[in-house]
Amino acid sequence: MDVRKSLSALADIPDGGAIAVHVDSSTGGFDLILTRSGDKVSAFHNECPHAARRLDYAPGKFLIDNAMLICAAHGAVFGLESGHCYGGPCRGNGLRAVRVEIVDGQVCLP
Ligand code: FES
Repeated sequence: MDVRKSLSALADIPDGGAIAVHVDSSTGGFDLILTRSGDKVSAFHNECPHAARRLDYAPGKFLIDNAMLICAAHGAVFGLESGHCYGGPCRGNGLRAVRVEIVDGQVCLP
């Protein structure tokens, strides 16, 4: 039996963009950002390392410019694929990555 959990269809993530997903669990779950660059998807916890705020300005809406994801709270700048901090108050602390796989066009937790 395949127990992988689908988070989203790859096609539902805009190329060069990001979506927000919630992962349910018995302890309330957690929120992820899924970013896409072509056929590559990266996943990060939707929690900024600066002040632990969500990065979206409205649920699932992210500020993205020139392959950079900008935290809506105070403007920290992260690489869309890497989650690396490139500027602003994140001071070198990147986003916390989560491993995902693409199986049959679905983005899944392993
Ligand atoms: S919480 Fe993201 S820059 Fe402050």
